[in-house]
Amino acid sequence: MEKKRFYITTPIYYPSDKLHIGHTYCTVATDAMARYKRLTGCEVMFLTGTDEHGQKIEDKAREAGVTPQQFVDGIVRGDRGILDLWKLMNISNDRFIRTTDDYHVSAIQKIFKKMHDNGDIYKGKYVGKYCKPCESFWTESQLVDGKCPDCGREVQDAEEEAYFFKLSKYADKIQHLLEDTDFLEPRSRVNEMVNNFIKPGLEDLCVSRTSFTWGIPVDFDPGHVVYVWVDALSNYITALGYGNDRYDDYEKFWPADVHFVGKEIVRFHSIIWPAMLMSLGEPLPKKVFGHGWLLLDGGKMSKSKGNVVDPYILAEMFGVDALRFFLLRTFPFGSDGNFSNEALIQTINVDLANDLGNLLSRTVSMAGKYFGGQLPENQRFHGEMDGELVTMVKELRDRYEEQMEKFAFQNALSEIFKVIDRANKYIDENAPWVLARDMDANGPRLACVMYNLLETLRVCAILLTPFIPASAAEVLKQIGACEACSDWESAGQWAVLPKDVTVVRGDNLFPRIDADKALTELEAAAEAAKKAALPDLEIEPQLEEKVDFDTFCKSDFRAVKVKDCQPVKKSEKLLKFTLDDGTGTDRQILSGIAKWYKPEDLIGKTLMAIVNLPPRKMMGQESNGMLISAVHTEKGEEALNLLILDDKIPAGAKMC
Ligand code: MSP
Repeated sequence: MEKKRFYITTPIYYPSDKLHIGHTYCTVATDAMARYKRLTGCEVMFLTGTDEHGQKIEDKAREAGVTPQQFVDGIVRGDRGILDLWKLMNISNDRFIRTTDDYHVSAIQKIFKKMHDNGDIYKGKYVGKYCKPCESFWTESQLVDGKCPDCGREVQDAEEEAYFFKLSKYADKIQHLLEDTDFLEPRSRVNEMVNNFIKPGLEDLCVSRTSFTWGIPVDFDPGHVVYVWVDALSNYITALGYGNDRYDDYEKFWPADVHFVGKEIVRFHSIIWPAMLMSLGEPLPKKVFGHGWLLLDGGKMSKSKGNVVDPYILAEMFGVDALRFFLLRTFPFGSDGNFSNEALIQTINVDLANDLGNLLSRTVSMAGKYFGGQLPENQRFHGEMDGELVTMVKELRDRYEEQMEKFAFQNALSEIFKVIDRANKYIDENAPWVLARDMDANGPRLACVMYNLLETLRVCAILLTPFIPASAAEVLKQIGACEACSDWESAGQWAVLPKDVTVVRGDNLFPRIDADKALTELEAAAEAAKKAALPDLEIEPQLEEKVDFDTFCKSDFRAVKVKDCQPVKKSEKLLKFTLDDGTGTDRQILSGIAKWYKPEDLIGKTLMAIVNLPPRKMMGQESNGMLISAVHTEKGEEALNLLILDDKIPAGAKMC
C-alpha cells in the first residue's frame, strides 16, 4: 500500500544574526511533528531553509565590509551557523533551501512573470512607510503610534516606482478561507487577521523595489528586485521543483499539510501567500498554524535587546534532548510563553530526572539485581493491582495521537507523563524490594511487576521519540526492546516484549541538575560567548567634521623626554610624569595609562605631548598638557599605546 504523505515546513530564517532560542522553538516543534508522522508510517517532507535577500542583509553586509553573499554564507554555513545549529539540535529536515540557490532564483522570476502576465501584477508608484528590520511595507493607517505594528520600531518614508500585486482582488476569497474553513489555526488568529487586515480593506501590495539591489531581479524590468516576501513565501513550492528542474516532488507533496509559523508572520502566510497561489492557479496549503512567541521577561527576544538566549550554550550545558523537551513540554504551542533558565532546570529535574529517569534506572537496576538482567518466563499477573497501569498504557497511544494531530505537543507529553507518574506509584505500591525477600514465593509476581514496568517504559519511549530522539532510543536499548518492539504499531499494543526479555544497564540518562551551580555556570558561559562575539579589533570611525588649518595649528605638539614617572596615590589609572620639554623647566603631566605601562619602563623615553592645554587638577595634582596615545578596542576592551618617538628627536622639537 502506498504510504500517506505529509509535507511540513518551518519559516525560512533570516541570516542577519545568529539564531536564538526563540527561532529554535519552531524548528524543534516542526521536527517533532515530522518525526511523529514518520513514526506513524507517513512519507514525510520536512523543509526548512534561509531567506537571504532584502535591504536588511544588504545593509548588514556593508557594515561588515563583505558582499551580501559572503555575509549570508557566514551565518548559514559558518562555524556555529544555522546549519550547525540544526545539526546540533538533531533536526531531521529532508531538504534545506537557500533563497540564493540558483534554481530558486530562476523559479521566482517565472512566478513573478506569471502573475504579471495574468494581470495580477501592475506598475505604479509606492508611497508609504517601510520597516527595515521587518522588511515590511505599511500604510499610514496600519502604523501603531507612527511605528511598525509588528516590532514597534521607527519606519521610514518610502516612495518609488514599483510593481503592485492585486491583493485587493482576492480579499473576499481570503476572508472566506479564513472564516469558513480550518485553514488558519489557532482560531484566535483568524479574528486578528480579519479584523486588523481584511475588514479595514486589503490594499494592493508593493512587490518590487528599486532602491537597493540585493534581491532577485525582475528579469523583464532591470532595476527592480522582487519584494523579499514574494521571494521567501515561494520557497515552499520552489523547494519541491515548482518552476525549476532541480527537484521533482511538486505533484507528490503539494499542497503542504501545514506551515508552522510564528504569530507575527501569520499575516504573510494566511493572506498574501494564499492570494499568490490563487493568482498562480495552484492549490492552497491545507493549514497554517501560528504558534506563540517565547518571551524573555515578558518581552520579545531579540539580539538588539541584548537578551538573547544562545541555544548552543543551553544545549551544551543541559543536553539537546533536555532542551527540545523543555520547549515543547512547557509552553502550549499556540500561545506565548515566558522562557527562563530556572524553568528549564525545573522541567529537567522534575520530568526527566525524577520521573522518567528514575523509572528507567529503578526498573533496569531491579531487573538486574533480582533476575541477573533477564526476566523469567514464569510470571504471575495480578489483575487488580496491574489493571489500572495496563489500561493506561494500552490507551496511551490513542490519547497521544489525538493531541499530536492537533499540534498540542504539551498535551501529548502530559498524557505520557501521567503514565510515567502512575508507573512510579506502581513501584511503590508493589514494593519489589519486599517481594524480593522471598523469591521462592514471590519470584513470579516480582517478574511480572518488572515486566509491566518494562512494557510501560517501552510504549512511553516510542511515543517520546519525536521529542527526545536520542534519549528515547537509549531507553529502548536499556529495556531490551528490539526494532519490532519499538514501532508505532507496537506502541498501541500490550505485552510485546518477550517475557524473558534481557535488560542492558546504561548511563543515567538525565542526571539531576544543581540549579544554583548551573545558573552560575550559565551566566559565565553567556558572558564568555558575548566577549568572544565582540570584534577582535575596533578602531574609532574618523570624524566627518572638518577643522580649518589655522585652528589645527593652534595645538602645540612637542617631543618630551621622561625624566621621572611615578604612580599616583589612590589612583589605579594615573601616572605622574616629570618631563623635559626643552624649555629648561620641568613640566608635569598626569596621564591615565597606568593600566598599560609600568612607570619604570617609561623613564628615558621620548614621547609626544600637547603642551598648550590649560592646566587641570587630577587627584589634587596639576597636569600641564596631555601625552598623546593611540587608542583602539580589543575584544570589547579599550587599549592605549603611548606614542613613543625616536630618541634622536630632541626635547622640545615641535611636531607639525
Ligand atoms: N524570513 C522570515 C520567514 C519567511 S517564511 C517564508 C522570518 N524569519 S525570522 O528569522 O525572522 O524568523 C523565523 C521564525 O522564528 C518566525 O516564525 C518567528 O516567529 C520565529 N521566532 C523568532 N523569535 C521568536 C521567539 N522569541 N519565539 C518563537 N518564535 C520566534 O520571519
